[in-house]
Amino acid sequence: ATHRDQDRAAEEHGERPALGSAVIPARPGAFRNTPDTDMSTAANQEWAAGIIHRVRGSRIGIDEIEAAQVTTREGVDDVYRRALAAQEAWAKKGASERAQAVREVARVFAAHRADLLEVMAAETGKVLEQGDPEVSEAMDFALYYAEQAELLEELDDAVLTPRRLTLVTPPWNFPVAIPTGGLLSALVTGSAVVMKPAPQARRCGAIIGALVHEAGIDQDLVQIVDVPEDEVGRALITDPRVDQLVLTGAYDTASLFASWRPELPIKAETSGKNAVIVTPHADLDLAAKDVAASAFGHAGQKCSAASLVITVGSVARSRRFSSQLADAVMSLHVGYPTDPISQMGPIIEEPAGKLADGLGSLGAGERWLAEPQQLDESGRLWSPGVREGVEPGSEYHLTEYFGPILGIIHADTLEEATEIQNGTSYGLTAGLHSLDLGEIAWWTQHVEAGNLYVNRGITGAIVERQAFGGWKRSAIGETSKAGGPNYLIHLMDAADVEGRR
Ligand code: SER
Repeated sequence: ATHRDQDRAAEEHGERPALGSAVIPARPGAFRNTPDTDMSTAANQEWAAGIIHRVRGSRIGIDEIEAAQVTTREGVDDVYRRALAAQEAWAKKGASERAQAVREVARVFAAHRADLLEVMAAETGKVLEQGDPEVSEAMDFALYYAEQAELLEELDDAVLTPRRLTLVTPPWNFPVAIPTGGLLSALVTGSAVVMKPAPQARRCGAIIGALVHEAGIDQDLVQIVDVPEDEVGRALITDPRVDQLVLTGAYDTASLFASWRPELPIKAETSGKNAVIVTPHADLDLAAKDVAASAFGHAGQKCSAASLVITVGSVARSRRFSSQLADAVMSLHVGYPTDPISQMGPIIEEPAGKLADGLGSLGAGERWLAEPQQLDESGRLWSPGVREGVEPGSEYHLTEYFGPILGIIHADTLEEATEIQNGTSYGLTAGLHSLDLGEIAWWTQHVEAGNLYVNRGITGAIVERQAFGGWKRSAIGETSKAGGPNYLIHLMDAADVEGRR
């Protein structure tokens, strides 16, 4: 039976399935990523239909899943006091005992894949096609960081001491994978973790907490708190007992938090303005498909999403690529997760600020190749927007919109295109479509971004294979990459020891 069949059987019989060896790597160094659900089988399609049915009816009553409400400074004090008390025993355990506890979280997530998809869809509008890989990624984070923690313990020229208390403030756009990665990475090093989910994804945060506790982790050691973004929220961050902050969110938010307590170690994955270059040596069919998926997957609400495509030379002059792109974009099915054929879901809330400008108005010389249309009264459902004629240095070129819009800029050469690509404040993901090895080699030496993708989409980094993190204003503080080999060590304090042997 596949793990999905087991999952379904477990739901019917009300028990947790045993997981096969497909998920747990047999030995360190043989890391195997968690498979996504194979939606080509009838059994799994039925399973997905069951989730959609429950999202429509809100079976698990997501209103009932709540994080602890902490609305006063005394409440914050109590949370931190309990966390620190629980951390003492946790830090005394060896790395392998902590790693085993974290692996157990992956097992519990596997058994609750359907519940996680349901809460993500119901609370944030994430369609199943986008949510399913996110559960796999969350499990990968658990399994990978568990393995890394064991490997770190074997290093014998440094003494690594856990930081006692980690505050995690994740975003709403990957409401399961990113919170889980932040939480478990710190936890497995020996830290206590307090996590404040984004207000738009508080129930996703709460279910993560419930599953972590179901896996046997102490209730005080990991606490999920719902804190208002006022002086109590500020006290949560500035409390001197917090040893480090792991944050994913906008650059401006991260810099504000950093300014409140400059000595606090901070590890922030922040904004992006990501571009894909398409040269005359590209496979244009593939490029159009990849650009559409990278720009409009999860309605463009990924920090890794493509917001610009830079067409070079004859690609810019002929209409072939832009008409292929328009076809690819307009054939995306836009709808809520309750509709099984939805590929692009709603945006998180009615557009305001920069996103409203980006969807509503054009800059000088720009025109719509596909004009974004508001599709219903909620203001959350939009058709994808593609603007042509974007000028280098313009507002559109330099601004992160975080929604379903893409701009096309023309460049005469690959060099000029790369300069445009590098010409923003950010450096998170970057793409090149070219089958010319010389162009690829030149580009990888000159592009300024943390995650480079050649002849493929630019979103969906896979734990262990593509460690994820950016340059420039796409990160603040300690910049080792999530899902990569240097992540854990930078969440700990290291002392080098000489003369021990
Ligand atoms: N890791 C995600 C991606 O690669 C973004 O946070 O798309």
